[in-house]
Amino acid sequence: MPAIIDTDPGIDDAIAILYALRHPDLDIAAMTTVAGNIGLSVTTANALKIATLADVHAPVHAGAPAPLGRDPRPELGIHGNDGLGGVTFPDPATRPASEDAVGYLISILNQADPQTIDLFCLAPLTNIAQLITRAPDTAKRIRRIIAMGGAVDEPGNMGRGEFNLAHDPEAAAIVLHAGLDLTLIPLDATRQFRADAAYLHTLRATGKPPAVASADLIDAYFVQTEHQAKGSESRPLHDPCVPLYALHPDLFRIETRHLQVDHDGALIAGPHPIRVAMGVDADALRARLCEGLAC
Ligand code: BDR
Ligand code: CA
Repeated sequence: MPAIIDTDPGIDDAIAILYALRHPDLDIAAMTTVAGNIGLSVTTANALKIATLADVHAPVHAGAPAPLGRDPRPELGIHGNDGLGGVTFPDPATRPASEDAVGYLISILNQADPQTIDLFCLAPLTNIAQLITRAPDTAKRIRRIIAMGGAVDEPGNMGRGEFNLAHDPEAAAIVLHAGLDLTLIPLDATRQFRADAAYLHTLRATGKPPAVASADLIDAYFVQTEHQAKGSESRPLHDPCVPLYALHPDLFRIETRHLQVDHDGALIAGPHPIRVAMGVDADALRARLCEGLAC
């Protein structure tokens, strides 16, 4: 299953990337990076470090340094000053690719057969919106977009909205209203898929570097979030839901809702039919994630 990951690592991005890169049924052609949880130079360096730890070659193409027409608003309180909660990763084995994210997406989509490449979107949708705006016919060659983002019936985590949509509402509106094959995995689903101290223990017990690093990342996620007591609570694993959905759609409950994105990046009732994940089989997802990280 060929896919490109668009990402802003990011603690939960890092776990999603490790899982996707290591999984034998996924073929990650490249990663594209964007400003989101932290600035672009850091998200780009982090993507390279994560690929190095996974020991999988995946070129990294840097994309947008800021939202469309707004200032970046990084999430240092959750992801730390390095975007990875202070967890040590190896130095990158390679440098960023010379072609920028949108240029790369346009060339790979035009080279490949139509409807053969998925986009796994783990971040604000700035790069994808720029692709749709610059090359709308090329964007139609995407097989499907699976994006973590939004809050449908749940409260948001950034004002009224969810971070990935609310960080760049204009980009979110372009992507959600473009009529492409899109599945949105909002907080309604991801808040049901949680890791607690027992799950960290399960990951560490595998002894495999991607699983152990993921346990360290989740541990840092507890520490960075001041209102959660370490060891006594659980944390949602937002971004891993995207590759997990690609591989195990049966573990998600999908509904079609008529929605649009408002000026704050919140989802409100609107004319666009969008497939949204509203429920998960959390136990099965935790098992699949651990298996994949131990590959
Ligand atoms: C999303 O926002 C980011 O902080 C996470 O990496 C995830 O993509 C959750 O709202
Ligand atoms: Ca993310």
